[in-house]
Amino acid sequence: NTPSSIRVLEETYPTDDYTNLTPSILSKLSRRLHAQKGHPISTLRSLVESHFPDFSHLSSLSPVVTPYQNFDSLSFPADHPGRAKTDSYYINKNAMLRTHTSAHEVEIFSRGIERWLLTADVYRRDEIDASHYPVFHQMEGAKIFDTDASSIERVERECQLLERQLAASNIAIEDVQHMSETNPAQTSHDMRSSEVTAKNLKLCLNSLLYKLFAGVAGATKDDPLRVRWIEAYFPFTSPSFEVEVFFRGKWLEILGCGVVLQSTLDRAGVANKMGWAFGLGLERIAMILYSIPDIRLFWSEDARFLSQFTHGKIDAFKPYSRYPPSHRDISFWKSSSDMHDNDLYDVIRDVAGDLVEDVAIIDRFTHQKTQRHSLTVRVIYRSFDRSLVNEEVNVLQNRVVSRLRERLGVEIR
Ligand code: PHE
Repeated sequence: NTPSSIRVLEETYPTDDYTNLTPSILSKLSRRLHAQKGHPISTLRSLVESHFPDFSHLSSLSPVVTPYQNFDSLSFPADHPGRAKTDSYYINKNAMLRTHTSAHEVEIFSRGIERWLLTADVYRRDEIDASHYPVFHQMEGAKIFDTDASSIERVERECQLLERQLAASNIAIEDVQHMSETNPAQTSHDMRSSEVTAKNLKLCLNSLLYKLFAGVAGATKDDPLRVRWIEAYFPFTSPSFEVEVFFRGKWLEILGCGVVLQSTLDRAGVANKMGWAFGLGLERIAMILYSIPDIRLFWSEDARFLSQFTHGKIDAFKPYSRYPPSHRDISFWKSSSDMHDNDLYDVIRDVAGDLVEDVAIIDRFTHQKTQRHSLTVRVIYRSFDRSLVNEEVNVLQNRVVSRLRERLGVEIR
């Protein structure tokens, strides 16, 4: 029941057995929240941009990329799980929605831009709850430089300056080694330049996080802002790190980063440079800074949401009355064992849009004799704008049920 072609941002593409883009996702492509003045995502973007004034600030790259851009150009192995249609939105085998802003690294470096920030919408098939949404926004930042002795010395001097500024800030950093056996320097890099690159990355990001979080997450008079660096793995950086910020008693993952893999720079035609890159999720940070309780709110067109914000200012969101939630359970037999949970979430999202708040799989079992798989799913419906009446929820739920039958061939129990 898939049409033979689909239109995405003014272009027509043939469909194939990879096509899994839904109308509900398609409708998000033109929203560009990061370019909507006054929107929290846009204010946060400006704030990060103002921290890197000498970087190019990019924000208009199309979300449609090739799997080559999204994966191969970044050295993802051929069998990486991120490539699966269960995890990413494909237009067809050769065109997809970017799953991260890193998809544009080669393209931007090859334009000769050495210091840049890119803000963009990214798309991932995922579960449904208050902090997961299939579209979100990332900012990628990168800086590359020449590798001759005097260029490396310049980076070292910049590090000294940043170190002095941070020493005067109320920040407590739990650091991790720049490199280790499990998080190595690249073979083409000498120790000194790899170390100074990692160090520069850490200093630049620590000072960014201080700018964003001081005054919100601790960092009041006596309490310092607590930042923790952890060894990580990405196919396109080495060494790699994740950074967490301590907020309301919990460590929150804020960003991923590392020293750019030399093969990325080779592909971009800048083999003689080296440098670092990071990618941060804007919704995560905005939810903390603005006290926004549910990720769906960013997509609200209700004046009660939008009118609360002024561009460039971060003020706590004042929740307007929460309407009661309404839940419905469905139990069904899967038509085959390769039906993925994300297929279920996409069908529900496509029917109910932003009226679905949470989907939880509350029971799962395999029938002893028939080996069929059963799921019981609880869907929580709730609107931010109004109270949903029972009949309306029933209509939504009936539509979900019939769509699950049609699209996924499930048998209701
Ligand atoms: N693209 C990575 C992600 O989405 C983050 C990242 C960016 C990591 C740049 C390293 C360097 O998780």
